[in-house]
Amino acid sequence: MSSVAELLKQAQNEVAITADPHELDDVRVKYLGKKGSITSLLKSLGKLPANKRAQAGKEINTAKDSLIESIQAQQLKISANEIANKLALNKIDITLSGRGPDSGNLHPITQTLRRIKKIFALANFEVRIGPEIEDDYHNFTALNIPEDHPARAMHDTFYLNSGSLLRTHTSPVQIRAMQKEGAPIRLIAPGRVYRCDSDLTHTPMFTQVEGLAVGDNVSFANLKFILYEFVSHFFEREVELRFRPAYFPFTEPSAEVDIRSDSGDWLEILGCGMVHPNVLRNVGIDPEKYTGYAFGMGVDRLAMLRYGVDDLRIFFENDLRFIEQFS
Ligand code: PHE
Repeated sequence: MSSVAELLKQAQNEVAITADPHELDDVRVKYLGKKGSITSLLKSLGKLPANKRAQAGKEINTAKDSLIESIQAQQLKISANEIANKLALNKIDITLSGRGPDSGNLHPITQTLRRIKKIFALANFEVRIGPEIEDDYHNFTALNIPEDHPARAMHDTFYLNSGSLLRTHTSPVQIRAMQKEGAPIRLIAPGRVYRCDSDLTHTPMFTQVEGLAVGDNVSFANLKFILYEFVSHFFEREVELRFRPAYFPFTEPSAEVDIRSDSGDWLEILGCGMVHPNVLRNVGIDPEKYTGYAFGMGVDRLAMLRYGVDDLRIFFENDLRFIEQFS
């Protein structure tokens, strides 16, 4: 009966080197299947002399049981290995820091506009808006810029086929508001304007805030006061302004105002002046009775100064790496 012990030993050796369930099952079939060697031994018991049958049957069955045990043990080993391999493959690095929820933020120019509106609200300026596609009358003529006036050339206007144009400034909103509401009036008009121009400090589309105050005894001193108040609120410190005499057809006298930047350079931020009597007349306001001041400031330039950005164009390229810094 030493052949049973040997057969068992051989079977157990084969079991021990199997690496997956299929291999293991092949070994099981080889020894314990219908035609397996141990099964055949059991089947051949009948051929043994009767006095040896019981002893041999016991031995073969014992061998069969230990082989079944070995197979079960190997099954556990194989599945434990499979789990360990899977874990090793799909390693999760729990030390990696989590990714928080993404939240957007307002565009820096929008933030700047909101800030400007808030500051002027403190001085009782109401917000008015007007169309970006304008007509010649509101953009030019009513503002005392008749046809063929050289000032039209300064504006680098985008004309549309229909004869309309993209407004070159927010000043036409002054006209629309005064036509509708008359005097006294006190407003700011934020919005986009368009000029065919592009370099470090100019983009074809940019943002202005117009200001207009018409009433009794409104003076240039009032204008200066408002502008100084505005910039010191906006930059949260005292800032140096420089008023340079300038020319705008719709204001008289007129000035351009520069602001001293951190680097000591002067940067133009707005144009302003006393509303020209012709403009008041054009909207049916009596210039003998009312006076007014107006200003138009470059919002993008103010944002550049406040945030220390030196190329205006970057505001409109919508590169998230830039824009996300303003959350
Ligand atoms: N509209 C002028 C511009 O865009 C600015 C301005 C507004 C000047 C109001 C005077 C008064 O250049």
